[in-house]
Parts: sequence; structure tokens; C-alpha cells
Amino acid sequence: MQGLPVTLSVNSGSILIAGGCEQAAQKTRLAMASGARVRVVAVEAVAEIHELAAQGRISWHRREFGIADLDDTIAVFAAGSPDLCAVVSKSARARSVPVNVVDQPALSTFQMPAIVDRDPISIAIATGGQAPALARQLRSTIEAIIPTRLGDLARFIAGIRPQLAHHSSEMRRKLIDALIDGPVADLVQAGEIEQAHRAAADVLDGELPKGVIHLVGAGPGDPDLLTVAALRALSRADVVFYDSLVPPAILDRVRRDAERRFVGKTRGHHSMSQHDIGHALVTEALAGRNVVRLKGGDPFIFGRGGEELLAARAHDVPVVIVPGITAALGCAAAAGIPLTQRHIAGAVTFATGHRAKDRPDTDWKTLASADRTLVIYMGQDEAPRLCSDLIGSGLSAATPVAVIANGTRPDMQIRCGALTDLAELAASLAGGPCLIIIGEVVRLSSHWPVEQIVALAAE
Ligand SMILES: C[S@@+](CC[C@H](N)C(=O)[O-])C[C@H]1O[C@@H](n2cnc3c(N)ncnc32)[C@H](O)[C@@H]1O
Repeated sequence: MQGLPVTLSVNSGSILIAGGCEQAAQKTRLAMASGARVRVVAVEAVAEIHELAAQGRISWHRREFGIADLDDTIAVFAAGSPDLCAVVSKSARARSVPVNVVDQPALSTFQMPAIVDRDPISIAIATGGQAPALARQLRSTIEAIIPTRLGDLARFIAGIRPQLAHHSSEMRRKLIDALIDGPVADLVQAGEIEQAHRAAADVLDGELPKGVIHLVGAGPGDPDLLTVAALRALSRADVVFYDSLVPPAILDRVRRDAERRFVGKTRGHHSMSQHDIGHALVTEALAGRNVVRLKGGDPFIFGRGGEELLAARAHDVPVVIVPGITAALGCAAAAGIPLTQRHIAGAVTFATGHRAKDRPDTDWKTLASADRTLVIYMGQDEAPRLCSDLIGSGLSAATPVAVIANGTRPDMQIRCGALTDLAELAASLAGGPCLIIIGEVVRLSSHWPVEQIVALAAE
């Protein structure tokens, strides 16, 4: 190990920044994040230091550095001219004040590690000043995998500690392990603090805590469009319920040992009823398992996530909802269609093309017009009827439409044309989930003839 990684208490004095350049401003930010009082000494300073001083968040002394500036100083950073850096380094060493001169290890008595900050937890990556670029790269990797709310979990456990005081140290350790590696941690990190307190009470009472049901949006199919929260839920699942909208490339991201249960339709077999899915989710969670219900797109956009949420609530099972990129957003991006566009479309509507027997027909007049975009889910089989209903409701037969199958996936297909040709366009696509986008914005797609796009951009 090169050097001794330690954390410096910042209560006994202030941190001094000698210099007013951009690098000095960076060190000012860093010093402020530690909770320290920060003083800057510099004749001139960049706008950020001006602003922080004006807000009273730091003090700025507009003069040259002098040795007296090191009084009451627990550490000093220097950045700027070689002369300034040399003087600050020499003075600080003479007074035994830890000094860091930016990019000058030979003039420094301490190095700044790259930091992942999850207050009150911090992770420092130090390379002994040998490879700061490597440290920065490692930092980004660690940033991506450490939950943003890890600090909240640390505070939550600290808040519970007094309730553990009467237990033996061995029991305390076991209970804390159960809190930080189970439903309580999942709930705190999802921001569900009230539910976390209830789950923690179960742990402290020695009861098997209920598992958490995660309603997770898998996005439109490209695994790179999974959210960080979705990936985390998949990597911690005991059992995953999924259906045919979730492709194998996404199931590959599920924890290897997790049980996988298909609850969708297969050729010749009925899918599980919504009631039975809800029941199965709840049963698993009541057995203390970490349950993931993985759904294409977003769970709450034509995803029946609401029914699963209600099933969980009816049995007082904690639920975490992880939103996903809904098909409309994924397909529009993949086809290069902005769903709203100044002067062209001032609103966007998501509707279903599926006709429910027990509900009145959709009132397309209120949903579709020339200056808004209409996105229709589950409309491929209904395309002939949709076409005549929409034209019958006043939409021009020439309105541009895009039909997108398997959006964002390697086998994506896109057809563009006029509303009057919707049925043909839809029929020309092979199987897979299929979305219809209707409105003038479709002309902006890279799949629309180029000369028309140029004309539109010139308007
Ligand atoms: C039951 S809905 C589920 C919607 C999903 N919850 C969402 O937010 O995207 C299924 C419909 O979503 C649309 N869909 C989902 N994924 C799609 C994709 N990758 N490409 C095209 N359409 C998709 C299709 O219209 C499909 O029939």
C-alpha cells in the first residue's frame, strides 16, 4: 500500500484553498462536500468562487497568500502559479499542515483519492498518485453499482441501533445483517421508509419479514434500456414472474439462481389469469421471498401493474415500483420520431387499439387531431377498424403513420405511410409486439423520404 488512507475530521478548523483558478474552484467544491468551513485566499477568482462567497457559503480573502493563513487550518490545497504552489507547500510543511498541490505530488504531503460519496458513507480510491486516471475510471464503475440511497440505509440502521441495545452483541450483529441484506434494505433504497420501518419491526420481533414485490419495467426490449434500479432488482431476485413481452436478452440479466416463472400466453395454452398472477406474487412474498414481476415497457402503461399493486396492498405486502421505458418512448426514439414538436404537435396521447367487450368504443374525436400525436398500443390486429374510425372522426386520410414492430430490438421493423394505408402497413410486418404512431411528427422520422424532411426543416 502506498500511504495510509484515513479520513480527516473537519470540525477543529477550516480548509484553506490557496488560489482562485478553475482547479481551486474544484477543490473548493470538494472541501465544501466534506462539511468543512472553507476559506479561499486569492487576488482573483473564477466566477464560481465569487458566487459561493456572495452566497456566504465560503469566505474569500482577496489578497496574496501569507503564512498566517495557515492558522486554524486543518489542510490546505494550492492551485495556480508555480511560485504560489512552491510558497504554500513550503509554508505548510514548516507548520506541519497537510498540503495538496494540484497535480504536483512532489510538493504535496497528501493525495486526494477519487471519491464515491454516499453520505455518510464514502468510498475512496487511491493510487498513491501513480494513476489518477485509473482511479477516476474505477470511480465511475463503482458509482454505477452502488445504490444512490446507500447513505439513507446507513442512517436508517443508525436510527434503529438504540432498539437493539438490550440484545447480546451476537444477536445485534445477526439482526443488523438481516436488516441490511433483505426487504428492509430494498425498501429504504427505494425510498419507501414507512414500509421499511414496518419490515424492520418484523425483523426485530423475530418474525420472518414479508418479502418485497418489485413491479419492474423491463423497457421495450433492448437490455441497454433497463434502468439501474431494474438491474439491481433483477440481480437480487429470488423469483421472477415474466411474460412474452420480456425477451431472452433481458432475462439473461436475472440472477442466475433465481427461479423464473413464465405467466404469459403460449400457443395453445391460456395465460395465467390476472387474479392468479396477483395471488402467486403475494404467496411468494408472504413466504419471505424477494419477488420481481418483470413487465415489458412500464408496469403502469397498459401493463396491469395497477392490479398487481392492489393485490399486494390487500395483503399488506410491501411493494417497490421500478418504472421502465414504455414502448411509445422506446419505439419513437428508435424510429427517430419526436412525439411532440414545436409548431407541429403540442400533445401526445397513449391509447389502446384493443377493444374491450365490456367498455364503450374509444371516442377518437377527443383523442386525435392534426396538431397532436396519437400512439396506439395493441393496435396491429385492429388496424383496418382503427383506420376507418380515425378517418371517420375527422383525421385526414393523408396523416402520416408509422408502424413499428419489435421496437428497439435487433429484429425491429418500421413502415411509414399515410393513415389510409394503415391496414396494409400493419399487415406487412412479421410477428412481435407492434406499435402505431399517428401524426405529423412521423414526417421527421429517418424512415420518411429525405426530401420531405428537408422541406419540413426549412419551414
Ligand atoms: C400489454 S401492452 C404492454 C405495454 C407496456 N407496459 C409498455 O409500457 O410498453 C403490449 C403492447 O405494447 C406495445 N409494445 C411493447 N413493446 C413493444 C416493442 N418493443 N415494439 C413495439 N411495440 C411494443 C405493443 O403495442 C404491444 O401490443
